[in-house]
Amino acid sequence: MTTIGIIGAGHIGSQVARKAVELGYDVVISNSRGPETLAELVAELGEHARAATPAEAAAAGDFAVVTVPLRSYQDIPVEPLAGKIVIDTNNYYWERDGRIPELDKGEATTSGLLQKHLPTSKVAKGFNHIMAKEIGTDGSPSGAENRRALATASDYPEAAELVAKLYDEFGFDTVNIGPLDESWRVERDRPAYVVRQNAAELKDNLARAPRTI
Ligand SMILES: NC(=O)c1ccc[n+]([C@@H]2O[C@H](COP(=O)([O-])OP(=O)(O)OC[C@H]3O[C@@H](n4cnc5c(N)ncnc54)[C@H](OP(=O)(O)O)[C@@H]3O)[C@@H](O)[C@H]2O)c1
Repeated sequence: MTTIGIIGAGHIGSQVARKAVELGYDVVISNSRGPETLAELVAELGEHARAATPAEAAAAGDFAVVTVPLRSYQDIPVEPLAGKIVIDTNNYYWERDGRIPELDKGEATTSGLLQKHLPTSKVAKGFNHIMAKEIGTDGSPSGAENRRALATASDYPEAAELVAKLYDEFGFDTVNIGPLDESWRVERDRPAYVVRQNAAELKDNLARAPRTI
């Protein structure tokens, strides 16, 4: 049994947890306010889910999903994620997160910031350009015509491979953008952001993305 440690239990964290449990994963899910505030969610998720602190969720996971507002990325526990693959759903909304100059100038990427914060983990971008409610509803079986595709990026091939495996189980094809330095191509306001697209369309949209907006 594979356990996913989920840090962030909002729109994306709860939807990833629902689908993961349906697929047979165990999940340990956390938020900022404490496990007791997640009682309703874990009751709904059933016996393969439990609530914990972020550090406990990180420690319990064979891999982790970080899905908090970008402004909180430096709160993510470092040591319990050492050596682990960390899937990062973050996007930069300066209206919510405050201005981050290196992102405004196109000198960094959101997942690159998390990778710097977690130097001993293997960060991969994932689930950042699909609306939360579509995670459980828009998937289709492998080989289905016009199957929706999602992008990933990582400096670690094994991390991108794990995201591709998870995407396939969730019902999506994968387009691997390459290293995190290129992951801006799927960030907010670019052509590939939160639109339904198959793999060919996603590749085209990634190719025509502007570096700064
Ligand atoms: N919503 C979407 O459709 C969507 C789609 C793609 C990507 N994203 C991106 O994914 C990320 C999460 O989005 P969301 O919509 O799921 O956000 P959300 O609904 O606001 O949920 C955020 C979650 O993060 C938790 N959190 C905040 N600070 C934390 C901390 N320091 N430590 C641990 N947990 C913390 C919150 O816990 P508390 O409630 O206890 O504070 C909450 O459970 C964002 O970067 C967003 O841009 C969102």
